[in-house]
Amino acid sequence: MTSSDKYRPSPLTEEEPKKPSLVNKYRPSTLTEVIGQRLTTNTLINSIKKQQLHSAYLFSGARGTGKTSTARAFAKSLNCETGVTVTPCGVCKTCKDIQAGVSFGIYEIDCATNNGVDHARDLVSKVCYRGYCRYKVYILDEAHNLTKQAFDALLKTLEEPGQKVVFILVTTELIKVPKTIQSRCQTFNFTPLKDYELKAYCQQILESENVSLSPDLLNIMISSGDGIPRDTLTLLDKVILSEAKTENDILELLGIVPSVNLISLLDACVSQKYTVIYKELKELFKAGNDPLKLLEEISNFVRNSIASQATPVDYSIMTCDSKTYQAARAWGSKLTMTQLVKAQILLRDSEIDFNSAKFPKQFLEATLLKLSILFAEK
Ligand SMILES: Nc1ncnc2c1ncn2[C@@H]1O[C@H](COP(=O)(O)OP(=O)(O)O)[C@@H](O)[C@H]1O
Ligand SMILES: [Mg+2]
Ligand SMILES: [Zn+2]
Repeated sequence: MTSSDKYRPSPLTEEEPKKPSLVNKYRPSTLTEVIGQRLTTNTLINSIKKQQLHSAYLFSGARGTGKTSTARAFAKSLNCETGVTVTPCGVCKTCKDIQAGVSFGIYEIDCATNNGVDHARDLVSKVCYRGYCRYKVYILDEAHNLTKQAFDALLKTLEEPGQKVVFILVTTELIKVPKTIQSRCQTFNFTPLKDYELKAYCQQILESENVSLSPDLLNIMISSGDGIPRDTLTLLDKVILSEAKTENDILELLGIVPSVNLISLLDACVSQKYTVIYKELKELFKAGNDPLKLLEEISNFVRNSIASQATPVDYSIMTCDSKTYQAARAWGSKLTMTQLVKAQILLRDSEIDFNSAKFPKQFLEATLLKLSILFAEK
C-alpha cells in the first residue's frame, strides 16, 4: 500500500453514504419542530410574526436540550428566501445551507477555542459589512468560555450591532456570563423535557423508523435519558441497532442493574445477611457493574422507595421506570420512614466520599455493611 492509498476512503463509503444517527436525522429544522421549551419558542415565533426583533439573545441550559437547533431554526426563519417566516421552506439554498451549518451569512463561532479578546475585536470589526443573507446571525456557542476582555469588547456591539444583525449567545454555564452581557440580551432557559414529552417524541420517531418497542422498554429508556433529548435519542439509536427485545437485554445495554438484584442486596442489608451481600456484590462486579454506578443505583432505589410511600402513588416524582417504582414502593413499605431516610443519607454521604476511596469495590461492601448496622438499630 502506498502512503496515498492509506488516506483514500474505502469504496464502501464512496458508494453508500453514511446513514445519519437519529440525533442528526431528527434535528428540529424549524421553531415549531422543537419539542418542549414552549415559552421560548412561542416568544421567538411571536417576535418573528410581529417583526419585533432583539439584537442579542442568550440561550442557556443543559447540554442536548435544543439550544443550537433553536438558534439555527431562528436564523432560518429570518433568512429563508421565501421571506421572514415562522415556517421556513427548508428547500431554498439558504435554508439548506443553514441546516447543514455551512451558510455564509450565519456565523457559528465555537468560543471554547475562539475565546480571546483578539477574536472578539475581529468579529466586532466585521459586523458592519453587508452579509450574504437578509440577516447576519452570529451564534456564539459555549459563550461562557470568552475571556473578560472578550466580553467587554463585545458589549457595545451586542447593544447596537447595526440593522439586520442578530447575536445569539449559547451557554451551558450561565453563571460564567457577566451580568453586563446578560442584561443586554433577551435570555431564555432551556430545560430538560418531561418524560411524557420525550415519550411521545420517541414514539413518533419509532413509527417513522418502522421499529416497534414495547411501552415498558421505552419507559426504561426514557428514564435513563434523564430528560435530555440528545441523550435519549442516542440511547434509542443504540437500542434499535442492538435489536434488543427483552427487558434484561435493554437493562444490560444501558448498564442498568435490574431491580431484583438491588432488592436482594437491600434485603440482605435489612436482615444482616453479610455473606449474601458479599456474594451478590461479587456477581454484580463479575457482570461488569461499576461500583460507583451501583452505589448510585442503590441510592436512587432507596430514594424512590421514599418518594413512592405517598398514597396515592405519584409517578411524577419518580426517577426510574414505573415498574421499578412499584418495586421500590413495595420494598420501602416494610421499613419505617426514619430508617429509609437514614439509609438515604448514609448512601448519599458515601457517594460524596467515593472519590477518595482507594479500593472502590471494598468501599461499596463497607457501605452496605454500615447500612446493615443502621437497619439493625432499633
Ligand atoms: N428540544 C428538542 N426537540 C427536539 N430534539 C431535540 C431537542 N433538544 C435536543 N434535541 C436533539 O438533540 C440534538 C442536539 O440538540 P442541540 O440543539 O445541538 O442541543 P444543545 O445545543 O442544547 O446541546 C438535536 O439534533 C436533536 O436531535
Ligand atoms: Mg449546542
Ligand atoms: Zn427557505
